[in-house]
Amino acid sequence: MNNIAIDGPAGAGKSSIAREISRRLGIIYLDTGALYRAVGLYMIKNDIDLKKIDRVVLALKNCEISIRYVEKSQKVFLCGEDISDFIRSDQVSMAASDVSAICQVREYLLDLQRDIARNHDVVMDGRDIGTVVLPDANVKIFLTASINSRAKRRFNELLEMGQDAKFEDVLKYIKQRDLQDTNRKFAPLKMADDAILVDTTNLSLEESVENVLKIIKKNGVEKNK
Ligand code: DC
Repeated sequence: MNNIAIDGPAGAGKSSIAREISRRLGIIYLDTGALYRAVGLYMIKNDIDLKKIDRVVLALKNCEISIRYVEKSQKVFLCGEDISDFIRSDQVSMAASDVSAICQVREYLLDLQRDIARNHDVVMDGRDIGTVVLPDANVKIFLTASINSRAKRRFNELLEMGQDAKFEDVLKYIKQRDLQDTNRKFAPLKMADDAILVDTTNLSLEESVENVLKIIKKNGVEKNK
């Protein structure tokens, strides 16, 4: 199977770029952040205090997450309900970052991610895809961008989704998530030794996609027939 790993911090353009790459290569896209977001949403819905790790771990036993593809688009199900449209708020983003620091949560989601990669050609994005989930991926890309341009992208995304957002808040949350995701003990956000760095600060989406596609093709992965 061809596996492409794309990692990087929030707002670096991972999901837009990975989605477009998957479309052009004719392979599936797995947004792994959505899985952590689903766990975060479950904890919020069940009033679980995210600082109490034992409570989160206990609650995890009843937290059923699955992925389905509807017209090639990823849908995330939580206990049988499609929650794909309810996981993009700042509250859920922070909860996802909080639960992602817990090793039992990471272990729980690891099999799900690896199963998909075992059975499909996939472009997968996240924080630890190249380092932990798919250490043998055919190509590893690490996307980055300046903090301001990342916050601006995320802010525009929230506005497009019709959410009421303030730029200062978005910037604050992104900084906080960067700090948490980079400094956690288990599978922190980190560039794999064999990953290729792409800085998207001054690149349009199309330019970023072209750059990443060039790297992918150089590594021998071609469009599916
Ligand atoms: O990519 P995202 O912004 O949707 O991710 C939400 C949070 O989930 C992120 O702050 C950290 C966590 N995450 C992770 O720890 N590992 C991944 N592979 C993907 C996301």
